[in-house]
Amino acid sequence: MKTALVTGASSGIGAEFARQLAAKKNNLVLVARSGDKLQELGRQLQSEHGIQTYAIAQDLTAPQAVATIFEKIQYQGLTIDLLVNNAGFGDYGKFSDRPLEKQLSMIQLNVNVLVELTGLFLPAMKQRGEGGIINISSIAGFQPFPKMSVYAATKAFVLNFTEALWAENKDTGVQILAVCPGPTESQFFKAAEFPVSMMAKNQNGMKLTSNKVVVSEALQALEKKQPNVVTGGFLNQFIVNLPRFVPRDLLVRQLAKMF
Ligand SMILES: NC(=O)c1ccc[n+]([C@@H]2O[C@H](COP(=O)([O-])OP(=O)(O)OC[C@H]3O[C@@H](n4cnc5c(N)ncnc54)[C@H](OP(=O)(O)O)[C@@H]3O)[C@@H](O)[C@H]2O)c1
Repeated sequence: MKTALVTGASSGIGAEFARQLAAKKNNLVLVARSGDKLQELGRQLQSEHGIQTYAIAQDLTAPQAVATIFEKIQYQGLTIDLLVNNAGFGDYGKFSDRPLEKQLSMIQLNVNVLVELTGLFLPAMKQRGEGGIINISSIAGFQPFPKMSVYAATKAFVLNFTEALWAENKDTGVQILAVCPGPTESQFFKAAEFPVSMMAKNQNGMKLTSNKVVVSEALQALEKKQPNVVTGGFLNQFIVNLPRFVPRDLLVRQLAKMF
């Protein structure tokens, strides 16, 4: 049986990765801060699918967090066949009005932790000549987003980093994929402190993709050995292609009006 490590598995897209990977008979290492939620999900998936699960309650932004997780996995004698770097969060508002500490913590989680986990697990996958890494970017990674400036920049980093790794590793047997969801059902908007009025507008005016669709499209793209996948349908495809047709200054001004 293969083993997948999913970060941010306590809710939203990460929990759905855990469910769909369990249904495909993968053992799971589940990581997030909410240990109780991980334990509950793990117990449920174990009994439904006859797999093994290991819950690691860890704040990934804490010092030495990634090294601690890596050691725990080594100690259990586990081989990670699929790494899903999913943990991440955003923040809504003008950069100068928002807490700087939250922005730095976002860069730490969305970028540094993702790079460190990739750096720790990729060499062994290459040595074995098999494995996979799924990094969660966003449609926000394709252009600057006023009022989500740091978040969009982190997701641009994830997209570029991941596609470059895809090319570096495409003949090694290790599949690397950047997943770019649009607005998706999860706790994301709450964690990003979107204004209530805007969340209501999102629910009425903008269709949120279900995390089931995001994850099943991601796993299909991994099987097809794609470098990236924009999940959730036509509107998201349209948004990510805008920078190809609209001058950047015009685009960023329009996005500022929309947000
Ligand atoms: N939802 C969207 O519209 C959307 C669109 C594009 C991309 N994404 C990306 O999708 C990924 C998953 O987000 P989601 O939408 O599923 O949101 P979510 O429901 O808020 O899930 C975020 C996950 O990350 C974990 N997490 C947050 N901070 C952490 C920390 N310091 N240490 C460890 N784990 C931490 C959370 O668990 P704990 O709170 O238990 O730690 C949770 O499991 C993120 O990378 C996000 O940027 C989301």
